[in-house]
Amino acid sequence: MRTVYNFSPGPGALPDSVIRQTQEALHCVPGGHISLLGLNHRTSLFEHILEETEDNVRRLLHIPPEYHVLFLQGGSSLQFTMIPMAFLRGRTQPAEYFHTGYWSNKAIQEAAFEGPVRVVWSGTPAGFRRLPDAPEYHISPTASYFHYITNETVEGLQFDSVPECGQVPLVCDMSSDFLARSIPLERYGLIYAHAQKNLGPSGVTVVILHQDLLAKSSQGLPTMLDYRTHCEYRSNYNTPPVFAIYVVLLVTRWLLNEIGGIKIMEEINRQKAAQLYHVLDASQGFYSGRAAPKNRSLMNVTFTLPDTSVQQRFLDEATAAGFYGLQGHRSVGGIRASLYNGVTLKAVEALCHFMEAFRLQHES
Ligand SMILES: Cc1ncc(COP(=O)(O)O)c(C=O)c1O
Repeated sequence: MRTVYNFSPGPGALPDSVIRQTQEALHCVPGGHISLLGLNHRTSLFEHILEETEDNVRRLLHIPPEYHVLFLQGGSSLQFTMIPMAFLRGRTQPAEYFHTGYWSNKAIQEAAFEGPVRVVWSGTPAGFRRLPDAPEYHISPTASYFHYITNETVEGLQFDSVPECGQVPLVCDMSSDFLARSIPLERYGLIYAHAQKNLGPSGVTVVILHQDLLAKSSQGLPTMLDYRTHCEYRSNYNTPPVFAIYVVLLVTRWLLNEIGGIKIMEEINRQKAAQLYHVLDASQGFYSGRAAPKNRSLMNVTFTLPDTSVQQRFLDEATAAGFYGLQGHRSVGGIRASLYNGVTLKAVEALCHFMEAFRLQHES
């Protein structure tokens, strides 16, 4: 089989060893004598899978017992809705949001169905090419909560520090950089991240929720949209996404046992991104980075080429050479190379070589 390097923005690349073990589990899940696809969620085997998966996420991020760790469905888009339902509905104090790109815009739109929303900084004037510096925004001490996205997947913008919001509950979408670097977990009231970037296949979303914030959740919500249900039933209220959770278990084992933890993963991710950004910076404008250098994402490297016809040729030749998923998001165009945890250094080196050769051939 031809080598294909997967730079897809999501669902993204997963480690080879995880894919191999998943294949095996499709035939027979270890300890179960049956296919993973037919594993009942009320069995003790699945309870153990769920427990170990939660435990691994806790170990990787050093999550203390005051936080619940949930595995939910509906993707991060459902979190755009569940969060304001729980923490904004019926309140008069606005929820405050950063508008830093495509996905935060969606989060803001959904919150507005539930109550007042105040955008405390918007990247619109800068064309979403940069993130705010601390003096540029003020979060009101009475806000119902403050929401931001650590990594804007479409634009390729990533915060390198946590915005200061005092005692206001900090709510964060970490969908595209979850488990890619260490985080000061204790600063957050709620973190959510779907699996399909760094963590596994689509179908499951991790929510990490502090018990004090949970206690403030609205009453009278529909059962499935109430975090209390999922906390009480430990992510097994209705039929959970058994397959996706099992793959998350394999990925967390890989991170713990094969990689050696988040700090090492972060170091590898920094190396990968540095190599690719170096190719952009050394190209004298042939490859033009989209994000302001200080806000560049380690996960999604976004750039353009001199014109759309060269760009199309780049995509065609890259596809022919075995590089998959480089087309930029439809809303911004250009190229996007996603360097999630499952993307190897070798894959990034191969892409860098391809890009250098392409530039030499096509620059005028
Ligand atoms: C940062 C971010 N948030 C939210 C979403 C939406 O996620 P989902 O498709 O799981 O609803 C995406 C999708 O890629 C994303 O990158």
